[in-house]
Amino acid sequence: MKGVVLAGGTGTRLYPATMACSKQLIPIYDKPMIYYSLAVLMLLGVRDILIISTSKDVPMFKDLLKDGEQFGVHFSYMVQEKPRGIADAFIVGKDFIGTDSVCLILGDNLFYGADFEDSLNKAANFRDGAVIFGYFVKNPKDFGVVEFSKDGKVLSIEEKPKEPKSNFAVPGLYFYDNDVLEIANNIKYSNRGELEITAVNDIYLKREKLRVEVLKDGTAWFDTGTHNDLLSACNFVQSVQTRQRVYIGCLEEIAYKKGFIDKASLLKLAEPMLKTDYGQHILYICEKY
Ligand code: G1P
Repeated sequence: MKGVVLAGGTGTRLYPATMACSKQLIPIYDKPMIYYSLAVLMLLGVRDILIISTSKDVPMFKDLLKDGEQFGVHFSYMVQEKPRGIADAFIVGKDFIGTDSVCLILGDNLFYGADFEDSLNKAANFRDGAVIFGYFVKNPKDFGVVEFSKDGKVLSIEEKPKEPKSNFAVPGLYFYDNDVLEIANNIKYSNRGELEITAVNDIYLKREKLRVEVLKDGTAWFDTGTHNDLLSACNFVQSVQTRQRVYIGCLEEIAYKKGFIDKASLLKLAEPMLKTDYGQHILYICEKY
């Protein structure tokens, strides 16, 4: 399976913070936002990852993440010239995906929780079709909304509906078989002028190939699109990390625990960061595991 992180967009809802640099490069507490999405893909064991951003921002992502070898993975980069919508990731990333299945994650989504890895692995265990997640929220109008029956069969999926048919938002994390390339190529622009991921999911639904995995109560999901969302996410990460010895989105730790890199490489990654709690945490992981 290939991994794609969509880190494009103009970030206007976070102005002036994002006037000069991509929103996915600003920190959620102690690390760049994109770390949290990369962490999800790496937790899944996906090692071939495409990062899509604007021509202005791709060089900055390259500066930060390089070719991924330091984490035992491989990062490719592609440019999305205009924010044409989430489904455009499959048009831009067509050659990268090739004949594989793909996991797409939005670069501004953060997931965390004791049961999250379990749900993630369940979702990733699919042979064909598409898998999305459902997450109970109070304000479904702001998101893609999925409606499903008691036995978990998807009944409808709508993008930011005025009258939502359920309280289950669809987070920015999706699994698709290779048909997604053909499907994304054939959808039309929505009223807001975007190639909507919800339109892609709706085609899978019509083909009876859309499955929903409901995220368990207590799982944390943040879409960090506004200043308030961003602050909530920062506060959450800060509380978890300082109260417990648990780091969210620590790519070095995940790479090591997944066996992508050895202890010597992990130590090398910690060295330039030893003045920070983040660096000290990596050192602790070296000593403990
Ligand atoms: C996008 C999707 C929406 C999804 C959300 C999750 O919304 O269109 O279906 O629920 O991401 O973060 P946007 O962030 O573009 O408003």
